[in-house]
Amino acid sequence: MAGNGGWQLTESGPEAYEQYLVPPLFGPWAERLIKHANIREGDRVLDVGCGTGIMARRAATHVGEQGTVVGIDINEAMLTVARTATADITPAIEWRQGDATALPFSDETFDVIFCQQALQFVEDPAVALREMHRVLAPEGRLAVSVFRPLSYNVGYDKLAEALERHAGAEAGMMMRSPFRGHSRKELRALAEDAGFSDPVITIEISSVRYPSVEEFVRREAASSPLAGSLDSLDRGVREVLLDDIAEALHDYIDDQGIVIPLDSHVLVAQR
Ligand SMILES: C[S@@+](CC[C@H](N)C(=O)[O-])C[C@H]1O[C@@H](n2cnc3c(N)ncnc32)[C@H](O)[C@@H]1O
Repeated sequence: MAGNGGWQLTESGPEAYEQYLVPPLFGPWAERLIKHANIREGDRVLDVGCGTGIMARRAATHVGEQGTVVGIDINEAMLTVARTATADITPAIEWRQGDATALPFSDETFDVIFCQQALQFVEDPAVALREMHRVLAPEGRLAVSVFRPLSYNVGYDKLAEALERHAGAEAGMMMRSPFRGHSRKELRALAEDAGFSDPVITIEISSVRYPSVEEFVRREAASSPLAGSLDSLDRGVREVLLDDIAEALHDYIDDQGIVIPLDSHVLVAQR
C-alpha cells in the first residue's frame, strides 16, 4: 500500500474535498442538477449547503452579467475554499455562512434554488425546505439531490462496514451519514408540506472511478471528518482494512482501478 508518502490525511478536509471529490463526483452531479433547473440568463440563484461551491460556480456560468449567485453553508471552512476558488470569476458569487433552516434572505428573493447532497445533513429538512420555498420567487424552480440509502450505494456500504470493523463505530457512522436516504414517498411529502406543488422525484445513477482501492479509501477519508482518526491507524490495521474492502468490492475492481456506483434521488419542483 501507500506509495508516495503514505495516506497524507492531514491536509484540510475541505481542500481534500475540493481536490478529490468535486472533479469526479460533485462536479458532474452539479451539471445534472443545472439541467433539471432549466437555469436561464438573469436568474437569481441560491445554492443551499454549497460546501466548496461547485453548484454555485456552475450556475454562475449560465446566469450572465445580469444574474446573481449566492452560496450558503454552515461550515466556514468549506466557504474559505469556495472563496479562494472563485476569487476572479464573473458574476461574483456571494458566499454566506448560515443555516439552511434559517435562511438569511427576504421572501421571494431567488428564481432557482439548488441543494446538492446537503439536505440529508440538515437536522430538520422539513424546516429547510419550508425556508427554500419562502425565499423562492413565484414560478421559481427547486432542484435537490440526496443519495439513496446505502443498500443502493454498495461501495460506501462496504466501506462503512469495513471502517466500523477496523476503525470503530464512529468511523462507520461517519461514512454512513451522507446516505440517510429519504424514500421517494418521504421526499414528496417533505416537498409538498413545504408548499411545493407537483414535485417530481427521479432516481439517477452514475459512478465514480478511483485508481485503486487504496485511493478510494484514502481520498474519501481525507475529504471527511474521518481524516484525523484514520491517520492515526496502525499501518497493519490499515492494510487489513484495505484488504477487507478489496475483497468486499471485488466485483467492482477492473484493470484501471475501482468503480463505485452512485445512486441518488433528484427532487425537482416549482413554487
Ligand atoms: C456533501 S457536502 C455537499 C456540498 C455541495 N453542495 C457540493 O455539492 O459539493 C454537504 C454540505 O452541507 C453543509 N451543511 C450541513 N448542514 C447544513 C445546514 N444546516 N445548513 C447549511 N449547510 C449545511 C455541510 O457543511 C457541507 O458543506
